[in-house]
Amino acid sequence: MNNFTFYNPTRVVFGKDQLKELHNLVPADANILIIYGGGSAVRSGLIDAVKEELSKGNRKISTFGGIEPNPRFLTLMKAIEQARKDGVDYLLAVGGGSVMDGTKFIALAAAGEDFVGKEEEILSFGFGGVPANKALPLGTVCTLPATGSEMNNGGVISNGHDKLFFHSPITFPQFSIIDPSYTMTLPERQVANGIVDTFVHVAEQYVTYPAEGRFQDRTAEGILQTLIEIGETTLNDPQDYDARANLVWCATMALNGLIGSGVPQDWSAHMLGHEITALYEIDHGRTLAMTLPAIWKVRKEQKKAKLLQYAERVWGLTEGSEEARIEEAIDRTEAFFGSLGVPTRFSRYDLGEEVVEKVIANLEKHKMTALSEHGDMTLDVSRKVLRAAL
Ligand code: NZQ
Ligand code: ZN
Repeated sequence: MNNFTFYNPTRVVFGKDQLKELHNLVPADANILIIYGGGSAVRSGLIDAVKEELSKGNRKISTFGGIEPNPRFLTLMKAIEQARKDGVDYLLAVGGGSVMDGTKFIALAAAGEDFVGKEEEILSFGFGGVPANKALPLGTVCTLPATGSEMNNGGVISNGHDKLFFHSPITFPQFSIIDPSYTMTLPERQVANGIVDTFVHVAEQYVTYPAEGRFQDRTAEGILQTLIEIGETTLNDPQDYDARANLVWCATMALNGLIGSGVPQDWSAHMLGHEITALYEIDHGRTLAMTLPAIWKVRKEQKKAKLLQYAERVWGLTEGSEEARIEEAIDRTEAFFGSLGVPTRFSRYDLGEEVVEKVIANLEKHKMTALSEHGDMTLDVSRKVLRAAL
């Protein structure tokens, strides 16, 4: 196992009716900005309920709505201006990954003078992390199980045809209220996207090469098996609280640093997926259903030992040649995504060969030329992967 530091300060307040804890979690005299998306949280009555809880105290409360899926830099700039003008000292994100990510960005940019006029710089720090000393404190009320943003310190922001990510040790939410009931209003497509996103977060930290991370492997396999067990149930019956609660907790645990500590990580499915979203506005989860199986097909040799382990422990495949077991495991993964109504090929979006060079050009622009756990996924390899997903 590799050396690691595991640090995760987010307090998770999980379960039905936990919103009643909100007023205990935010300082009683906070000047708080509630940040939300395109209106789902208004329609469901959640924003009103949040305001009511926060009004139990001496807080100054304001709102900023309209953060779009794949949150846009220019929209976030408006929120940053509002936060600066009003002297806001606490942020509350109410929504899915886009709202939570956007709020982290606002927290960094609006915290002081450091980034005034230089907000875009935050988006150029990528894997290195943002060297910031100050961020506004933030909490979340999470309404979509997918990104893990409710318990991690990363964010992904869109700017034109660029989709760029940042992270910082000071952008962990202080708390996240995670009530699975709030996710029951989600359209089927978003639930399916969330299952695939969670699955691929685990896969990117697990299907690499053996590193004696036995706890990490068994936990990763447990999350994958849980998703396979409850995926269709929670899609078809959103009111089944326990199935949904399991999905929600899997999503949080898949990307909060736990299973990735001490083991190699890949993330190439995500890097290709982000470029596809930036160019074609295909939902994040749906891009991953195309890139992950294609990467496994092209990189069977590099990932052989872990693909065999995945085949055996997740799908129970123990018979036949190694090659046949790996192929069967990839087929079953694609069939699982398909069973959720998530396509695994570009052709299903009426896209063809033309995507390949466009995505490659963006990967080159963003210096994504040595991806994967080995750093050996060159643009040529990415080209093969994209072709395998046509
Ligand atoms: O905007 P509203 O009206 O709220 O509607 C949203 C949006 O249209 C809707 N929604 C959310 N909760 C709902 C709901 N509708 C009904 N009932 C509810 N309870 O769902 C739509 C999609 O929301 P969004 O937040 O965009 O989805 P998701 O949570 O999948 O987030 C995607 C973003 O997260 C980034 C992605 O790149 C993308 O920008 N990621 C963030 C990561 C991180 N922070 O660690 C990692 C991920 O790999 C990912 O890259
Ligand atoms: Zn993801």
